[in-house]
Amino acid sequence: HEEFTKVKNIATIELGKYEIETWYFSPFPPEYNDCVKLFFCEFCLNFMKRKEQLQRHMRKCDLKHPPGDEIYRSGTLSMFEVDGKKNKVFAQNLCYLAKLFLDHKTLYYDVDLFLFYVLCECDDRGCHMVGYFSKEKHSEEAYNLACILTLPPYQRKGYGKFLIAFSYELSKKEGKVGTPERPLSDLGLLSYRGYWTRVLLDILKKHKGNISIKELSDMTAIKAEDILSTLQSLELIQYRKGQHVICAGPKVLDRHLKAAGRGGLDVDVSKLIWTPYK
Ligand code: COA
Ligand code: NA
Repeated sequence: HEEFTKVKNIATIELGKYEIETWYFSPFPPEYNDCVKLFFCEFCLNFMKRKEQLQRHMRKCDLKHPPGDEIYRSGTLSMFEVDGKKNKVFAQNLCYLAKLFLDHKTLYYDVDLFLFYVLCECDDRGCHMVGYFSKEKHSEEAYNLACILTLPPYQRKGYGKFLIAFSYELSKKEGKVGTPERPLSDLGLLSYRGYWTRVLLDILKKHKGNISIKELSDMTAIKAEDILSTLQSLELIQYRKGQHVICAGPKVLDRHLKAAGRGGLDVDVSKLIWTPYK
């Protein structure tokens, strides 16, 4: 029965120095059905049933960071690009892990078709995964992000907004506009709304004179529909003579910016070394 198999199976995981309570069901292979706790290698993301297995594994595992190319480094923060085709096992392990915190997504499309952007905090022991987002290599619908996750111990520190900002920086380098795949979770939507609001209102604040949604979209790589819905929800759009017009005075903008929360960690574009996937 479909419903029966979706009952949460794994209750906790161990990952690096953290023990993390899970949120949702994830379809681990059947031999893990009897487990309530899984032990992950924090670098290759292989998972095991027992602590001793993990300890044995850690003595052999050579990885100290995600497989793939480091495309960004700023201070202790690094981003790795992992090709799901070249690193299939890692990508599948990441999907199993991510599903524990994602309710609505069917994650088990072919990992071959995706790139995974894995954000790490690095120290002398290695690069420790904080979160990631995935992206289709070729998206018909102009999606620039499929799934996004900040691991629970790292949530509410600005990493989510960093990942979102990063996805738009990649779109800018591609010369395309992008949008996240739908549906978004509640937390996903909150994070996007916060990001869109801050980016758009920062521009409106600095800009003198009229600016169109198309111009905003060209500057930010945010899809026009997302710009319109964000500005409409803030009641900054009026419809005049068959056209949407942005109407916002400095006081209103400041009030909304304040309500949009903290800016999060900034992406330093000068530290991004990347060419689009061909
Ligand atoms: N309660 C209320 N607001 C929250 C929240 C919470 N638990 N978590 C995030 N937000 C909102 C806040 O507005 C926050 O900004 P603020 O801290 O300045 O107020 C904003 O979202 C983003 O916070 P940030 O710290 O940048 O995000 P994060 O690192 O916590 O990551 C997600 C956000 C969505 C990636 C994270 O919650 C997550 O991984 N959730 C599980 C997976 C998921 O739902 N992914 C999206 C699928 S579409
Ligand atoms: Na998602």
